[in-house]
Amino acid sequence: MLKAIVPSIISLLLAGSALASEVTYRKDIRPLWDAKCSACHGAKSPYLGEFLENQDKYKKMNKGPRMDTYADLIIFVGWPDTGAIMRRLDDGKNSKDGKPGNMYRYLGATDEERQKNFEVFKAWVGEDAWTHKRWDAKGDMPAVTKEELAKMKVKY
Ligand code: HEC
Repeated sequence: MLKAIVPSIISLLLAGSALASEVTYRKDIRPLWDAKCSACHGAKSPYLGEFLENQDKYKKMNKGPRMDTYADLIIFVGWPDTGAIMRRLDDGKNSKDGKPGNMYRYLGATDEERQKNFEVFKAWVGEDAWTHKRWDAKGDMPAVTKEELAKMKVKY
């Protein structure tokens, strides 16, 4: 009896502690971003507005828009570049064509590492908030709703 109960109590406790340690920018995302994204999205990269005006130039330099602070990163989750993080980092399981986003490959050197780091970003944004929708509708994809925006966690 006890032999059967103890493992289930332990797994309950473990599940509880995983939930308790919420994914935050400071603890989880920042170190990951430093390791995997900073080379092309750091202080030498242009802010989104300038990037969009001169995309060809920056793409040739392999520079993406700058997102090197908490404030500069969450604009690619919520507004104005709604869903950009989710579309670009997606592992392909949430997109219609089944293809991963084009930044997914930078999440790690192996499938295992990419998947692990993808889950960290997903938990940070929020499991229910992982939407590919934009601020405005595009093609057959409707615009994001206020309810969907409200689900985004992006805890500092
Ligand atoms: C080797 C360089 C490089 C690395 C590393 C890299 N990116 Fe990028 N990223 C780019 C370039 C260049 C673009 C712009 C071209 C494009 O849209 O694909 C871009 C575009 C993006 C966009 C789209 C921005 C927009 O305008 O909507 C997002 C979001 C993004 N990257 C997130 C990330 C994240 C998060 C990481 C780390 C996991 C990362 N990138 C790693 C080069 C890089």
